[in-house]
Amino acid sequence: MVLPPAGILPIDLDWDAVEKLSRTYLLGVPEIDQQHRMLFAWCIALRRSPELQVVEGLLAYAARHFADEENWAYVRGINFDRHQQLHDDIIVQLEALYAGDSSVDAAALAYNWLVHHIDVEDRALVASVRAS
Ligand SMILES: [Fe+2]
Repeated sequence: MVLPPAGILPIDLDWDAVEKLSRTYLLGVPEIDQQHRMLFAWCIALRRSPELQVVEGLLAYAARHFADEENWAYVRGINFDRHQQLHDDIIVQLEALYAGDSSVDAAALAYNWLVHHIDVEDRALVASVRAS
């Protein structure tokens, strides 16, 4: 897994806050936790600056992270079909929001989805690997 550099974020962030938030949701898999930290950073960036450039950056980073996470499960022999569907669904939802429906807060959707996904579904994925 290769992380895009933090410098690609188009706005300045409070990195201490990002760090504190991501520490709350550590899974104990450093390569995944690092990418989740950057996803939190992108979500916070989107909340502060809901511009197309930030949305596109978040979607690009999320797509890359999801592929890495799915590959992480794949090489460990874990079935991740349902997990992959969850990843695909949030990308479709966020893309649809920016294609038209401005009544929904994309930053809140992305943030709330991420917190739930890491804490429930990613945690279960990691537990499946550890139990295998
Ligand atoms: Fe995931």
